[in-house]
This record gives sequence, structure tokens and C-alpha cells, in this order.
Amino acid sequence: MFILKILKFSIKILCSFAARTVSHTITQLDVPRWADPRREAELRCQYTRNPKDPPLHSVKWYRDTDEIFRYTPQELETRAFNSSGISVTNCSCDLRSCNITVRPERGTARYTCEVSSEAPRFAVDKRSANMTLAVLPEYDPLITGLPTLVQAGEQAMVNCTSDYSLPAATIDWFVDSEPQEDPQITSENHISGADGDGLRASWRTLHVFPDDYASHRGHLSLRCRSIVATWPPNERSMSVRLFVQQRQHVSSYMFSKNNAVASSCSCVFRLQPQLWTFLLLMTKVPFLVK
Ligand SMILES: *[C@@H]1O[C@H](CO)[C@@H](O)[C@H](O)[C@H]1NC(C)=O
Ligand SMILES: *[C@@H]1O[C@H](CO)[C@@H](O)[C@H](O)[C@H]1NC(C)=O
Ligand SMILES: *[C@@H]1O[C@H](CO)[C@@H](O)[C@H](O)[C@H]1NC(C)=O
Ligand SMILES: *[C@@H]1O[C@H](CO)[C@@H](O)[C@H](O)[C@H]1NC(C)=O
Ligand SMILES: *[C@@H]1O[C@H](CO)[C@@H](O)[C@H](O)[C@H]1NC(C)=O
Repeated sequence: MFILKILKFSIKILCSFAARTVSHTITQLDVPRWADPRREAELRCQYTRNPKDPPLHSVKWYRDTDEIFRYTPQELETRAFNSSGISVTNCSCDLRSCNITVRPERGTARYTCEVSSEAPRFAVDKRSANMTLAVLPEYDPLITGLPTLVQAGEQAMVNCTSDYSLPAATIDWFVDSEPQEDPQITSENHISGADGDGLRASWRTLHVFPDDYASHRGHLSLRCRSIVATWPPNERSMSVRLFVQQRQHVSSYMFSKNNAVASSCSCVFRLQPQLWTFLLLMTKVPFLVK
């Protein structure tokens, strides 16, 4: 009994040792996790020949259990199979790698690369990865809650919501082109529940304290960007202007007006935002957000 166990054990060791040295080994499999429906996806498989390996016999690609492609270097042949309806649109294979492009299908499929070495053992190595067809947003993200004007010393809160997509988008905020990451300024990325098709929307808020951006000249540019993690990533954005009432605007308006007599065009440019806030102040009570 004991001897039998030892025998079994050593056979096991022998086999795994043998398996490791008589087959090509897959070193890298690249299958995009999310495929963009507007382009073909490239699947890549790289392998190496170990010193004692027989030559490469074949490389096969499977979609779930269906073989979709085969490369046999001895016969200098590549073959695409069309049984599952998926078509391989291009290929480039040699003794080290085999890359194919496919038109992605709805839903999720498991793609497998299988490499086998020549006789006597035809030993194989294989690796799989899932690829899911992404559903890209149809609309740009939407910014809501923008006040008409915010007082200096006050803050504003705006909200950005992405369109429904699969996977859910990641939202980022930019103020005057600077990315905002401070948790006091932007909330985390929230993801909605799934709709009937499994798509989700994301939202993220931005708290703006205009006093923190000394550079503003009567307004700040707020940009919300939504990214869906396909390769290449799908990016959409929406920009708005947040008008800020400047504290000393009346006196600086007077000051600029006096100077305008001396120097012309640069002052006209500088005047505009102040004129804006001045007019707004005169005409209506600003709508303010805490
Ligand atoms: C593969 O099959 C689909 C339908 O099953 C067909 O529309 C397509 O043209 C075929 N592609 C090739 C390369 O034969
Ligand atoms: C097929 O792939 C080759 C090499 O990667 C490339 O040069 C060629 O343009 C591709 N053809 C198509 C139709 O995409
Ligand atoms: C397959 O793609 C990899 C990575 O881009 C590249 O290094 C390799 O040369 C390609 N193989 C072939 C046979 O074109
Ligand atoms: C692929 O997806 C299936 C079902 O969603 C899961 O069971 C499997 O573990 C995944 N395979 C890989 C290689 O991620
Ligand atoms: C932001 O908008 C989303 C949906 O448009 C909403 O569900 C969420 O409650 C809003 N968040 C805040 C803090 O107003």
C-alpha cells in the first residue's frame, strides 16, 4: 500500500516534470476585458519553446468551446472556422506569437489560446480569458445644479451624471483644466443600479470653493469627464462656466475705467468679466447654493 503510494507520487512528479519540458509554454495572453462594439478586438497569445520541446505543432483559438482559428506552421497554413458565426478578420502568427482580430459579439465569451508541440506527445498548454462587449454611452455626461452666480467666499455644489453604459463609467472633475481629487472637493464615484439591459449610470459631485482658485477672472471652467474602460478607453465630457462674483468688483471696475483712457485694448479685455458681474448685481438677486 505504502509502496504504491510512493509509486503514484513519483509518477505524478514525473508527469508534471515531463509536461513542463515537452510543450511550448504560453507566456502571455492578451484579451481585452471590455470590447468596443465599434472596432475589431485584437487577441494576442505569446509562447516560448523550452529547450527540450519538439517543434510547434499548432496554435488554436477557441471561442467558448468552438474552434475559431488554427495555425499549423509545418503546413504554413492558417484556417478560420466560422461555425459559431464569429469571424476572424485578420491574423498574424509565427513561432513565438499568434495574434487574431475578431468582430466582438454581444455578451461575454471565453477566448482560449491552445498551443501544442509536435509528436510524440502533442503536449498542449492553454490559457483563457473572458471578453465582454461593452455598451458605450449615447450621450455626454450631464452637469446639474449649476448656480447662475456664486458669491466670493461662498461655495457651489454641482453634480455630474453619466449616461448608462456597460461597464459603468468612471467620472472625473476638472476645474480650470486641473484634475480634482481631494475628497473634500469631489465625492467618490457612485454607480446606479442596473437597468433592464444590465447598464449602469455613474455620478459624482464637485464642491467648488472659488476662493481656492485665485486665478479666476469672474468665472471658473468646470469639466466633467466620463470614461468607459474599453481599449482604447471611451471618453466623453461636458464643460460649463461657473460665474463668480468678485468681492472688490465695484472699485476695480472704476479703476479699470479710469485707466481705459490711457491704454486701450488690454483693458477692454479685462473689463468684460467685471462688467458681467456688475450688470448681474444690478439686475437680479443671485441664486446661491450653500
Ligand atoms: C461567418 O458566418 C456568418 C453568418 O453565420 C456570415 O455572415 C459571415 O460572412 C461568415 N464569415 C466568413 C469569413 O465566412
Ligand atoms: C492585418 O494585419 C496586418 C499585420 O498586423 C496589417 O498590416 C493589415 O493592415 C491588417 N489588415 C486588415 C484588413 O486589418
Ligand atoms: C503579436 O502581438 C505582439 C504584441 O503586440 C507583438 O509583439 C508580436 O510581434 C505580434 N505577433 C505577430 C506574429 O505579429
Ligand atoms: C469567465 O466568466 C465566467 C462566467 O461569468 C466565469 O465563471 C469564469 O471564471 C471567467 N473566466 C475567466 C478566465 O475569467
Ligand atoms: C446626483 O445625480 C444623481 C442622478 O442624476 C442622483 O441620483 C444623485 O442623488 C445626485 N447626487 C446629489 C448629491 O445630488
